[in-house]
Amino acid sequence: MSIHTKILPVDKNSVSFKGEKPVFSDEATEKSLRLAANVVRSAGQVVAFPTETVYGLGGSALDDDSVKAIYNAKNRPADNPLIVHVSSVDQLQRLILTRLHKVPSIYEKLLAKFWPGPLTILVPIEEGSPISALVTTGQKTVGVRMPDHPIARALIALSDTPLAAPSANASTRPSPTLASHVMFDLKGKIPYILDGGACLVGVESTVVDGLSSPPMLLRPGGVSAEDIRKFGGDEWGNLVIAKKTAGKLEPVKTPGMKYKHYSPTAKVILFVNCGNGIDAITNYTKGLEGKFALLKSSRFACAEEMGILGAIERSLGNSATEMAHSLFRELRDVDEMGVDYILVEGVDETGDGLAVMNRLSKAASEVVNGNQS
Ligand code: TXA
Ligand code: MG
Repeated sequence: MSIHTKILPVDKNSVSFKGEKPVFSDEATEKSLRLAANVVRSAGQVVAFPTETVYGLGGSALDDDSVKAIYNAKNRPADNPLIVHVSSVDQLQRLILTRLHKVPSIYEKLLAKFWPGPLTILVPIEEGSPISALVTTGQKTVGVRMPDHPIARALIALSDTPLAAPSANASTRPSPTLASHVMFDLKGKIPYILDGGACLVGVESTVVDGLSSPPMLLRPGGVSAEDIRKFGGDEWGNLVIAKKTAGKLEPVKTPGMKYKHYSPTAKVILFVNCGNGIDAITNYTKGLEGKFALLKSSRFACAEEMGILGAIERSLGNSATEMAHSLFRELRDVDEMGVDYILVEGVDETGDGLAVMNRLSKAASEVVNGNQS
């Protein structure tokens, strides 16, 4: 059954906070947020909303039907746990940990430094926890973060409801960084999208597990591994980075992948250690028919020099931070223009480059490594 999907425009600059209470200087924004807050408070209801990382699809983490509605709208496999979003540490304590637990002390310095912001921590939950078991898919931990986006925080604060919210894309598609991306994927499947403009960070939050020893980085994201080691305190100096799914960067070309993620319809080919890209791309495209897009960072030459005349050429930016911001948008954009191949320049896996390369290596069906050819 298809439902009407309505866009609710909101202005993030019109929201400020008095302590933890949102204050609005724009009536329309306040009205949209109050409506959305009522929706997410209701059982079985969801709303898409902007965060500083990507748009999320939120519903009450305390209600099974809301969580089911999230999985259904996205067509997400039910064994992948969701992140719960809070607007304050007080809310985390009151509504998630309850009287059963305190926030584990290992996170103290990280939260002081990076909350609100793109960092998700795993905290313990046990029987008696009010969090829906569908959120955690039966795990003994739940991932929690406090988003920095004023619209996201205001929505959670007004509803006083911890929101389970995965990225608001259809499963397997690139994450949405604009309301129009959410509309493209979820039109007819959800009632409301709060449109707060473009997301600043552009890739999802960093997920860390401080409950295991040594602590683990489960997903690279908006906070770099270097910064977690630097600011987290002594224990975080030993941070281990969880291995990428299939070691995709190892072979020269890795056809196929274990599972699809962040994938446009076009075929994505990731080029690493290929210098200005001229040799690698000339070789790769020799004899290939079809329409090409070239997504460049700081080293690649122009399409003409690579012999792919007529290719759509886009810059992802000159730093990994800029690439993170534009990556999903450009993948979606050139895909909608109907290209057959998207050729992408990789970056070093340092700083924000780790998150960028994690997303790119999952989006790509082939990796060309110039060091191994
Ligand atoms: O930036 C973000 O984190 C965005 C915005 C909307 O906040 N949300 C997001 O959610 O990316 P999602 O569901 O697309 O990704 C959640 C990630 C998955 O990789 C999941 O496996 C992991 O977090 N995760 C969640 N809970 C977990 C848990 N208890 N244990 C291990 N991994 C967990
Ligand atoms: Mg996602």
